[in-house]
Amino acid sequence: MPRIDYADISRVLASLTAGEDDQVALMATMVCELHHADDRFDWTGFYRVTAPGLLKIGPYQGGHGCLHIPFDKGVCGACARTAEVQLVPDVDAFPGHIACASSTRSEIVLPVRDKAGALIAVLDIDSDRPDAFTQDDARGLTDLLEATFAR
Ligand code: SME
Repeated sequence: MPRIDYADISRVLASLTAGEDDQVALMATMVCELHHADDRFDWTGFYRVTAPGLLKIGPYQGGHGCLHIPFDKGVCGACARTAEVQLVPDVDAFPGHIACASSTRSEIVLPVRDKAGALIAVLDIDSDRPDAFTQDDARGLTDLLEATFAR
């Protein structure tokens, strides 16, 4: 039962992505490392800001995801709108949750900023387990995103 070690992943990602500044290459590499690091992560992916108020699917692992999410829909939209981490222990209790997979029970969505501070994407991790994510995940993932996209 692997459980993510954020310090370890941080070292691996820094080494894998050294010198790379292409955002999609960075997203693809991060998603791959995260998805296989923890049994709680059943869908792991980025939605990119591609137009004002619109998210479009980016690199991901897991079953297929919705292609577009407007900022006023779903947990991803709430994250993009508020630029705050959304930690949702029970997706059925979140008004407007978008169910791409009916097996999803909980999720965490984090804002992704570039070094100028602009919101470029959100990172969405979904779990088939209820209440799967903690504040430690929020902190660990926030640090990883900052180290990878705001450097
Ligand atoms: N659960 C997300 C939608 C994206 S997918 O589940 C892959 C949401 O409500 O924003």
